[in-house]
Amino acid sequence: MNHLVAPSLLSADFLHLEKDIEMLNRSEADWIHLDVMDGVFVPNISFGFPILNLLKEKTAKPLDVHLMIVQPEKFVNEVAEMGAEYMNVHYEACPHLHRVVHAIKDRGMKAGVTLNPHTPVSLLEEIISDLDMVLLMSVNPGFGGQRFIEHSVEKVAALKQLIARKGAHALIEVDGGVNLETGKRLVDAGADVLVAGNFVFSSEDPVETIHQLKML
Ligand code: DX5
Ligand code: ZN
Repeated sequence: MNHLVAPSLLSADFLHLEKDIEMLNRSEADWIHLDVMDGVFVPNISFGFPILNLLKEKTAKPLDVHLMIVQPEKFVNEVAEMGAEYMNVHYEACPHLHRVVHAIKDRGMKAGVTLNPHTPVSLLEEIISDLDMVLLMSVNPGFGGQRFIEHSVEKVAALKQLIARKGAHALIEVDGGVNLETGKRLVDAGADVLVAGNFVFSSEDPVETIHQLKML
């Protein structure tokens, strides 16, 4: 499968969000990645449902919601109602992960589990077959524009092996510090979806930058 590209709206111009959504609509972006932060699970606050609920009307691209919040199980209905395709919850935020994953699927969404940089992929051994996606953080979550953690490339390879060994079908998405150089290495290691925020939105021609990420 050719890899997908999911630009992160976190680095968009929040005063002109509609303009940036229109840019993404014109681009080869496969999905739009949406970062929700609560100031508790991560040391930053981004945006919540008042913004998220406006997006579905403005784009036909699938919405990939990454919840960096405690107790994400409280918001399964809200995320379903805003029209999300993927709901990603952090492994570290879910003591009852199996229950949350199935609640997400029962609401008709695809379920993703996100791992912080220090969380080993081996912890997914007993749940990987239930997942539609694993989102590997290649920075510590909370901020855009951080430096890529090199070890993430090995985690992609380890996760790829786990998925193959279990006969599972989860996609591998990687988030944080993705550019053409790190993106190429991630795709070569087996990543299916690249998230990119700062690299896309700080570039002179974001549509062209998304094209280049697709061409890796
Ligand atoms: C970080 C977020 C990312 C962020 C990536 O906590 O989960 O999605 O937007 O930003 P870049 O690509 O700038 O590292
Ligand atoms: Zn994210």
